[in-house]
Amino acid sequence: MAGTSTSERGAWNSKLGFILAAAGSAVGLGNIWKFPFEVEAGGGAAFVLVYLIFCFILCFPVLITEIAIGRKTQKNAVGAFDSLGFSSWNFIGKLGILSGIIILSFYNVVAGWAFGFFVEMVTGNFQIGSQFSEFTVDIIKIGGYAILFLTTTAIIVSRGISAGIEKAAKILMPTLIIMIVGLLIYAFTLPYSGVGLKYYLIPEFSELNLQTIGGALRQAFFSLSLGMGALITYGSYLSKKENIVSSAALITLFDVGIAFIAGLMLFPIVAYSTGGDMTDVQGGAGLIFTVLPGVFESLGGTLGAIVGGGFFLLLSFAALTSTVSLLEVPVSYIVDEHKKSRKAAVIISAAVIFILGIPSLVGNGYSAFFTQFITYVGADAPTDVMTFLGHLADTFLLLGGLLIVSFTAFVWKKESLYEELSYGYVGFQTSKVKTFLNFAITILCPALLAILFVLVVLSNFFGISIIN
Ligand code: PHE
Repeated sequence: MAGTSTSERGAWNSKLGFILAAAGSAVGLGNIWKFPFEVEAGGGAAFVLVYLIFCFILCFPVLITEIAIGRKTQKNAVGAFDSLGFSSWNFIGKLGILSGIIILSFYNVVAGWAFGFFVEMVTGNFQIGSQFSEFTVDIIKIGGYAILFLTTTAIIVSRGISAGIEKAAKILMPTLIIMIVGLLIYAFTLPYSGVGLKYYLIPEFSELNLQTIGGALRQAFFSLSLGMGALITYGSYLSKKENIVSSAALITLFDVGIAFIAGLMLFPIVAYSTGGDMTDVQGGAGLIFTVLPGVFESLGGTLGAIVGGGFFLLLSFAALTSTVSLLEVPVSYIVDEHKKSRKAAVIISAAVIFILGIPSLVGNGYSAFFTQFITYVGADAPTDVMTFLGHLADTFLLLGGLLIVSFTAFVWKKESLYEELSYGYVGFQTSKVKTFLNFAITILCPALLAILFVLVVLSNFFGISIIN
């Protein structure tokens, strides 16, 4: 039975394929576009440290739990809860699908910008950085790039698990690593690279406050693609032979490693662009779209086109393996639960996502309404719709993560999780990992995630900061 359903749904060809696809989901705009400006906003290295701690002690257990639920049930994010016999909990999966759709709606727009910048760089238009605000209101252009990006994503997903998602990850991820290492080496040769590295690597603990801590946690969840069923879905195509714990460890290391290396690469470039003055770093979503093109221009025509084009192509590749995983969540739900073909499911989901992405497409200057979408309590300026959706999704991810571990520990029962983890991991039941997981999923994650969730909501939307 399991055999038939697996072959109809598709399955990973190899453990490496699964790890690359899951790491591909994790490594994305979050690591290369968002991480540096979160670090910048969070005051540098102290933020990085808190982020790393969260990834390993809070996120790693959630990651294991999600993969285990997926593999145990071989079902999508909603069907998994039904299959375990707890249909009343399948709202967690529905919340996850909603989060995934919200994320993809704006994420795809930024991915389109990245690809657009690749085209501009290779054609030698470095001015695009100083024209960023003109670029984001050129609706025809950025709409075209967004459609192109979503279509590419849809084609990969429509080919299925091993022939589509796994194959793309096996090509894109190694290419990405080669490109990032190349750019890293280059960044180290720039003047002021030491200043940038110092800013990035030496913690200023005085900068730590609720905002930074909450920001680090949101970033950790977003970056690891947690709390929305992407890992349940990817886990559902994994064979019983594979060791979930070691796979989750590799995925976490991969993601954290790439985010960390992206910072090592970017801060020297930023320091170069400011002439070594790190008090004056331009933050925000525009950091890599405005600061970097100027640096690439200063390298001169051909070199600038190679380095700049390389950087934005890298960003597009990283984004593509993530948009694929985001689209796979609703697609697998529709295929399993509504018995539609994969192709039909892809078309329906992509169309809905594109339409929902229109506010984000026009919300960066073109439409005043969506650019000044909402003013949070206590804030002095309005927030654009894309940033707002980002905050909303981050909040849902934390809630999803909290619900998934709590469900596992207290409803599905931790013994069932441990049994699933024993497949592919002989000796799990007597391992130290089990002792840690036991503490993490019953006490640490539920308690800390609940507290941090409340604090993040208060500080995000209501401007209330408890620790400062
Ligand atoms: N992890 C991806 C990134 O860092 C974004 C993502 C979030 C993908 C949630 C899937 C699910 O860019």
